[in-house]
Amino acid sequence: MNVVVINASPRKRGNTAKLCKSVVDGAKDNGSDVKYIDLYSYDFKGCMSCFACHLKKNFENPLCFWRDDLKEILKTCLNADSIVLGTPIYYGSISSYAQAFLERLLFAADTYLIDEDGNRVSKIKKEVKTAMIYTMNVPKEMDYFNGEDQLAIMRGYLTAIFGECESLYAYDTKQFKQYSAYVNNMFDPDLKEESEKTQFPKDLKKAYELGQRLSVE
Ligand SMILES: Cc1cc2nc3c(=O)[nH]c(=O)nc-3n(C[C@H](O)[C@H](O)[C@H](O)COP(=O)(O)O)c2cc1C
Repeated sequence: MNVVVINASPRKRGNTAKLCKSVVDGAKDNGSDVKYIDLYSYDFKGCMSCFACHLKKNFENPLCFWRDDLKEILKTCLNADSIVLGTPIYYGSISSYAQAFLERLLFAADTYLIDEDGNRVSKIKKEVKTAMIYTMNVPKEMDYFNGEDQLAIMRGYLTAIFGECESLYAYDTKQFKQYSAYVNNMFDPDLKEESEKTQFPKDLKKAYELGQRLSVE
């Protein structure tokens, strides 16, 4: 199986990257070929609304026509059996790079056609498993998540256009090595330390298992 794992956090060694790398390990251990991508290393835009992908003559082509660094990454994704996108939560939503990537991935593979059953017609003719990984500061109990509806909408489009979309939430992540150096009375450094020791390893394990699951035909 070909698996693409994308870290849409600017931090290459942060929480999201660690979870993404755990997915890579799980997928590799189950025999997959894996490509790991740090999205913030590339220079690209979100959908430019050029509509080249929606022209009749391009009906068979699910690859975004806009030429920038993302084009090769999108090509890799279209050849994959599974696509995993990890993102930190920024103000209740996915990172701007994750959003830009999804706009380009989804819109070029999507159509304005509805079939007899009322479903939108996707240009992707095989089932591609997808997954979203979200990391965030708040503890699970805080249930702040008025962003969840928006996250679910994007997962709905991934499911409709590519295939079933799993999600993995990592709450209560440790943001700073040394909390005492930063302006903060919102997060208890001791609780963050505790969460990193007890909760984060469980999240890493879930990510590893996700990688293994995505590598099964
Ligand atoms: C600009 C910005 C906005 C953030 N907004 C939220 C938020 O709305 N909710 C939350 O729980 N954490 C928020 N965070 C914290 C990050 O989501 C969290 O620390 C995440 O695990 C960071 O991932 P990383 O280590 O991969 O960079 C925010 C962080 C930044 C930099």
